[in-house]
This record gives sequence, structure tokens and C-alpha cells, in this order.
Amino acid sequence: MNILTFNSEDKLNEAGAGLLASIVQKKPDAVLGLATGGTPVGIYEQLVKKYNDGFVSFKGASSFNLDEYVGIAPTHEQSYRYYMQQHLFNHIDIKPERTHVPNGMAEDLQAECLRYDEAIAEAGQLDIQLLGIGHNGHIGFNEPAEELSSGTHIVELAEKTRQANARYFATEEEVPRQAITMGIGSIMKAKMLLLVVKGEDKAEIVQRALQGPITTDCPASLLQTHPNLVVLLDEAAGSKLQ
Ligand code: GLP
Repeated sequence: MNILTFNSEDKLNEAGAGLLASIVQKKPDAVLGLATGGTPVGIYEQLVKKYNDGFVSFKGASSFNLDEYVGIAPTHEQSYRYYMQQHLFNHIDIKPERTHVPNGMAEDLQAECLRYDEAIAEAGQLDIQLLGIGHNGHIGFNEPAEELSSGTHIVELAEKTRQANARYFATEEEVPRQAITMGIGSIMKAKMLLLVVKGEDKAEIVQRALQGPITTDCPASLLQTHPNLVVLLDEAAGSKLQ
């Protein structure tokens, strides 16, 4: 595990974008695993800048997002598809048909999960998976549980997660109760994992995830077993590490 701590958000975002860009520079048909949430916004901004400055092109690349809410259309402002279009895809030259986000409106959600895993396998697995972390240690939408699923699956969102995500919706009632998420197995198969965490409020879960016992009570703790994990933290998020 390689943990890097930054004293400015700009430097952290630059490092994250630099790593993603370097993968595509070396391998133009790279398969990128992408994430949503507040944390990666600045990284995507930097990535768009690198594209505009001519440092990197995504025309041969493809992408798979970690997760999507169930029952929310891609045109809904809080859907993860909409987020990805706004923050990244609309501003770079990635081919729209090579960007993948689970379809939370699929009639047959189980079939959609299988289809998603097959599409990742067909693309040749993920060269890198970008990850944030929830306050309860969730990654993607893999919530703490006695057992974790390996492949893409449907999850019931934890109350804590719904409350945390309510800031994006008009009322907490509107936050979806279910999501489709890549499983821990799909994530762990990525050749490299890039975990990014910002803020004091995540300091405790960062300590548990990176230095605590490996347990399904904290899904992010499983990342410790990945052979190629890079962690980017701001000083606040890293403040409880021993
Ligand atoms: C969401 C997403 C996760 C994300 C996490 C943290 O629920 N499903 O992929 O990592 O919450 O989000 P944020 O970066 O906004 O704190």
C-alpha cells in the first residue's frame, strides 16, 4: 500500500488526475473504473484540464462506474450517469458508447447486474479503479454486512448512507433506497486501486480501513489485501493514522 498525504486540495487533485492520465497515456485503450460523490470532483476537473491542454486523449479508453441508484433516470440530476456527464464525459473525447454506468432503470435488475460484470470482463478488466469511502467504510455501495457480494448486485442503502447523500436531494425521502453496485470482487480484480479521501470527518474511517482489522464490517478494510493500492489523503483525512 502506498499512502500519500497532501497539504493542499489542489495538489491532491493534481496527483489523482496525473495518475489516471498517466495510465491512459501508457495504454490508450485503458479501462478506467470511475467513482462519483463529492471527493473526485476536483480530480475530474484536473483531468479535463489535462485533456484541454493536450496532455491526454481518451478516444481509445473505456470506463465503468462503480454504482448507480435504482429507480432514477440517467437524466435525473442526482443520477450518477448525469454526474459523470457533467463532471467528465461531456468535456473529454471518450466515446459515449464506451462509458458504462449501471442502468438503475433496467426492468430486470438482476440481468442488468450480470450484463455489467460481463461487459467489464469483455473489456479485459479494469486497469484502475478510483474509489471514495463512505463514513461507515462502504466502497461503491458495498455496505458493512456479515457477507459481502463479489459481483455487481443490488443493495439496500444503509440509513447512514441515505442521510449522507440527502444533501444532494430536496428531502431525505427522495433519496433512493436501493442501488446497483459493483461487488468487492469486481473492485478487487482491478489492476490498481486509487482510494481518495478528504476531510476530518473521514479520519476515523480511514484509520479503521487502512490500519484496522480486515472485516466485512468495514468493506474498505478489504482493500488492504490488494497488491497495488494507492491512497491519496488530505492532512485532515490522514490525521488519525498511526
Ligand atoms: C457514495 C458513493 C460512493 C462514495 C461515497 C462517498 O454513497 N456511492 O462511491 O465514495 O458515497 O462520497 P463523498 O465523496 O461524497 O463523501
